[in-house]
Amino acid sequence: MGRTHSNAYNRIKNFFPELEYLPILKTVCSRSEKKVKAFAEQWGYESIETDWKKVIARDDIDAIDICTPNDMHAEIAIAAAAAGKMVLCEKPLARSLDEAQKMVDAFDESGIKNMVWYNYRRLPAVTLAKNIIDTGKLGRIFHYRANFLQDWTINADIQQGGTDWRMDAAVAGSGVTGDLLAHCIDTAMWLNGAINDVSAVTETFVKERVHQLTGKMQQVGIDDACIFHCRFDNGSLGLFESTRYARGHKAMYTFEINGANGSIRWDLHDLNRLEFFDHADDSKVRGWRTIHVTDGDQPYMNKWWVPGLSIGYEHSFIHQIADFLKSIETGESFSPSFKDALETQKVCEAVIDSANTRSWKDTHVDWTEN
Ligand SMILES: NC(=O)c1ccc[n+]([C@@H]2O[C@H](COP(=O)([O-])OP(=O)(O)OC[C@H]3O[C@@H](n4cnc5c(N)ncnc54)[C@H](O)[C@@H]3O)[C@@H](O)[C@H]2O)c1
Repeated sequence: MGRTHSNAYNRIKNFFPELEYLPILKTVCSRSEKKVKAFAEQWGYESIETDWKKVIARDDIDAIDICTPNDMHAEIAIAAAAAGKMVLCEKPLARSLDEAQKMVDAFDESGIKNMVWYNYRRLPAVTLAKNIIDTGKLGRIFHYRANFLQDWTINADIQQGGTDWRMDAAVAGSGVTGDLLAHCIDTAMWLNGAINDVSAVTETFVKERVHQLTGKMQQVGIDDACIFHCRFDNGSLGLFESTRYARGHKAMYTFEINGANGSIRWDLHDLNRLEFFDHADDSKVRGWRTIHVTDGDQPYMNKWWVPGLSIGYEHSFIHQIADFLKSIETGESFSPSFKDALETQKVCEAVIDSANTRSWKDTHVDWTEN
């Protein structure tokens, strides 16, 4: 994600030149001096560091962007908050609700800006879905359905830990729930409101894998697949599925929302397109319309090419940083903040706990006391 964010910081001045604040790439940090030097040169950073604590201690740094594995998010964010720096943190906010709560508390009343990279909200078609829903056009919502499917961990020789940190529960916190469903949950709650309770089933298909750092075969602690259903606060029902064992799927993120007066459907593989069914249409021509969200009056698209030309995944990051910088200018609040991401973390925690205890779980209880 270091490349994705760096790309966004570099592009912002070209496509959002009107912003009062623009990023200056002061320094980039990673553990290997050789690698981080090459990275700095490639992406235009002024200097390098190999110890993140030194970045936080520097007077010329206003904001810290955390793109490390999940086990370091809390430590870095809390130290940055104590030093009065803004933080832009990758998702999931943390490995657990307990860690996430501490991160929120670290910023608490300080007023220091923070945000979490739940970037899918800022793909134009997804933002358009939000705009349509907010007009009330779908009517009462009955169903929300989302999938995030991949197929990269079917091979039992894939290890856990080290560069395969996503496979190691101690580093990642959870498997597909925190890695993939967290995105789906963030989008869902943004579009359809709070999730009140959940019932989940998880599976770890490959029970033991070699740990990259110890060389030993160890039990796998992450969820390889997770399916949960839930009730939203608005009375609608949700159904979510994520797996890394859906052969043929690399990053198949889809959602569909069904309301009394209309439905909406979106697919990451065709990310510029939003499908919309409006029951108010003349019945003779009524049907799913497919909206290519690339026109200048559609979200964000007046920043890009002539109408009809597509943009990609990387643009969601550019849009997110642009909105974040704008919020500094206007003093308005920015979402998703750490507080918003804490709500997603509560749902993730309830999902894992529900699967472990084979029971429904309320998302509003204080999981940190368990
Ligand atoms: N928003 C999204 O769409 C999205 C997509 C992928 C990953 N992510 C999130 O981004 C984060 C990073 O994921 P990734 O796929 O880029 O992982 P990665 O393993 O490719 O990169 C992690 C980087 O962190 C560096 N790192 C590790 N320990 C460090 C330390 N002590 N000091 C400095 N640098 C250190 C590693 O050298 C590596 O360059 C994770 O939290 C992940 O969940 C978000």
